[in-house]
Amino acid sequence: MQHQEFVYLNGEYSPKAETSLSILDRGFLFGDGVYELIPIYNKKIFYIDEHLNRLRNSLEQINISSSLIDNDKFLEIINTLIDKNNYTNYYIYIHISRGVDKKRNHIYTNECQPTILVMGENYRPFDHNDISKGKKAILEEDYRWLKSNIKSTSLLANVLIKNKASKSDAYEALLIRDGFLTEGSASNVFCIKDGVIKTPKLSNKLLPGITRKFLTDLITQHKLSYSECDISREDLLKSDEIFCSSSTNPVVPIIQVNEIKIASAAGPVSMQLYSFAQDYIDKHFS
Ligand code: PDD
Repeated sequence: MQHQEFVYLNGEYSPKAETSLSILDRGFLFGDGVYELIPIYNKKIFYIDEHLNRLRNSLEQINISSSLIDNDKFLEIINTLIDKNNYTNYYIYIHISRGVDKKRNHIYTNECQPTILVMGENYRPFDHNDISKGKKAILEEDYRWLKSNIKSTSLLANVLIKNKASKSDAYEALLIRDGFLTEGSASNVFCIKDGVIKTPKLSNKLLPGITRKFLTDLITQHKLSYSECDISREDLLKSDEIFCSSSTNPVVPIIQVNEIKIASAAGPVSMQLYSFAQDYIDKHFS
């Protein structure tokens, strides 16, 4: 990558380190915005239509017109950043806030022009060795709001929970609401029992992950046994395998939850899905 990394903000490309926003931006003051994180593999954009559709849905849910998402325009912005910054395997972060108001006020006016930021972020995915060893997780009460299907930039609860996990040397916190699994603090969660891959069905309590969709596409394609269902805390802890999915790491096997051992290493079904995901990426993005 060149030493000057460029970002896109409201129609202009400028160096990341020199780009700034108004203190009256509602994204800064209220977390009043939504976002996407999109993988780039070998300079190509992953599941772009799905990511932009989710962004449209998120915008509509917070009463910002989704007509500002024009697929061609966003493709052009992302490809320009890939070219300008020489991104090969990277992540594109899109952040849309309600925009800059005249003063801080909970009630927004129609005068706000949404702020559109698009920039690259470099997260290093786990390697095969890390994945096959598996990771630890903690269990946490899901005390977030009941609109977790919106990919909102208001992430304070997720941030606090993920940091609690990190302080316990855990990769993730698995969230339980009313006795049932919802998702992770920054991932969707799957478990496997007697060969059946299970994950909670979509609702207002969890994010419709694009990686979750990618994995369910692979599950269908490979005719694996799959169920979207309620998963109680007890059932989760009695699983044969558990894994988390997100754009940064499609499959992260969990081998321990709090003090409870799930397995001594990543299980066969998780590793099979991990390989299917890697093979798909190698085949379609080479
Ligand atoms: N987060 N659930 C939550 C709460 C998340 O934050 C994420 C991803 C997911 C998985 O979604 P996807 O498969 O579309 O990445 C589920 C991203 C990686 C983030 O906040 O950076």
